[in-house]
Amino acid sequence: MKKHDVIIACDFPTGQDALDFLSQFKEEKPFVKIGMELFYGEGPDIVRKLKAMGHDVFLDLKLHDIPNTVNKAMRNLAKLGVNMTNVHAAGTIDMMRAAKEGLAEGAQGEVPMLIAVTQLTSTSQERMQKELLIPNTIEETVAHYARNTQQAGLDGVVCSPLEAGIVKKACGTSFRTVTPGIRYPDGDVGDQSRITTPQKAREIGTDYIVVGRPITKAQDPVEAYRRVLRDFLGE
Ligand code: C5P
Repeated sequence: MKKHDVIIACDFPTGQDALDFLSQFKEEKPFVKIGMELFYGEGPDIVRKLKAMGHDVFLDLKLHDIPNTVNKAMRNLAKLGVNMTNVHAAGTIDMMRAAKEGLAEGAQGEVPMLIAVTQLTSTSQERMQKELLIPNTIEETVAHYARNTQQAGLDGVVCSPLEAGIVKKACGTSFRTVTPGIRYPDGDVGDQSRITTPQKAREIGTDYIVVGRPITKAQDPVEAYRRVLRDFLGE
């Protein structure tokens, strides 16, 4: 697994759709993200297939339960050979530690990278304060949850491109950030609001970018992927 990379969000309704999409890539083996829709629809076999094809896999299931349950679940995810997976930082430091231990226990080789979700970007500050009774600002909450994540021994967090700087400041540059919300000025924004370009994401210093529709819905997905790679990695 590379230290910096472009991860394609494979948000497709079926495994076959995802495999058809990836079959267009003849020279590259992109790092792919599989989310709840595909995993719950297809089961663990979709991960095994993608791994057998040579892809690195980020399994985005955002686990959040009691530490023992998360530990056991993580053991099984590690056995699938995923390269990266995640939990909610709101599950507490104990839960995050249990998750990390589960991955180490289940891993056949390298221990998968474990990252945490701080505050979902769909949660507004108003709802966080009124419904979750967290009185701080989003930025303070993100920085605090990132520090908890680091204390639990995890590798990094998922955050918006605009939060990556806050996280790096709170936890140091070697603490990893994985950021979605990547768009080109000439592309469709879709439902994303806090967005940035691959070049800007590189300047901010984020480690991995997650890019879905700008690649999956492009007329030429392979060319679109290469453009993002060039702009983010400078290759
Ligand atoms: O198509 P698009 O580039 O918007 O895809 C971004 C991916 O990142 C999707 O899979 C989306 O669920 C995920 N994501 C996000 N914002 C977050 C967390 C995850 O867009 N805060």
